[in-house]
Amino acid sequence: MAGKVNKMVEKADLFKNGKRIDGRTPMDLRPLKITAGVLDRAQGSCLVEWGRNKVIAAVYGPHEVLPKHLADPTKAIINARYVMAPFSGQEEHGRSGPNRRSIEISKVAKHVFENAVLVEQFPKTMIDVHMEVLQSDGGTRVAGITAGAVALADAGIPLRDMPVGLSAGKIGETLVLDLDKYEDNLGDSDMPFVILPRTGEILLSQMDGMLSREDISQAFDMIFEGAKKVRDKQIEALKTSYERMAAQVTTQGETNQ
Ligand code: CDP
Repeated sequence: MAGKVNKMVEKADLFKNGKRIDGRTPMDLRPLKITAGVLDRAQGSCLVEWGRNKVIAAVYGPHEVLPKHLADPTKAIINARYVMAPFSGQEEHGRSGPNRRSIEISKVAKHVFENAVLVEQFPKTMIDVHMEVLQSDGGTRVAGITAGAVALADAGIPLRDMPVGLSAGKIGETLVLDLDKYEDNLGDSDMPFVILPRTGEILLSQMDGMLSREDISQAFDMIFEGAKKVRDKQIEALKTSYERMAAQVTTQGETNQ
């Protein structure tokens, strides 16, 4: 079946002769395609295809908060929801809905978006950011947040800067960027990050495994370098979406004359 991965991988296979299991060098990212405005019904949307990951994000709002007493008179509340489709993993698990992992990822994503959106401009409202993982292969939280950020911009919601998600980690003695599921599961550590490239702020930093202080410092440098490529794709996706919208408005205007 196309795209199906069935081979057995062992830790020793992960890094050989300076190359990773899929042929990448330590700094290489997996192929990344970002498309904004993929859903007609959502106010903003984005599809991120990153390696074998496929994540779709949709944004609704700012809208009225219900129940009303939850509304914050000083700013918008962000409601972030990350879920994995039951068919998204390599192992069929057939169970959807929230679990401890998805609740944790939704919580860290909420924190990221609260610190990126100009929430003070929309008091007493709520903004929903849905992130649905259709296919997963390691790094879905950073792919989801990267998609959510583009969906927010696609919805016209002002951001301080575009959040960019990217992971770094260590395989044996080598630090690498953008770990896939094999590297995530069999490697020595995995650090998902979300940064604001313009201001240099770190909005999310988690760690699974152990890294020394020097490793973490080097990982930061690698993340800020790699994040430029992700940001370029985010901006390109938004430009393409706006151009498409502008072309539609022009065509409709001409038809109405
Ligand atoms: O996806 P991310 O790296 O952000 O999170 P993780 O918890 O480190 O999971 C790594 C990978 O394991 C995911 O991307 C999925 O490919 C896989 N996974 C899965 O198939 N089913 C789960 N319930 C959890 C993770």
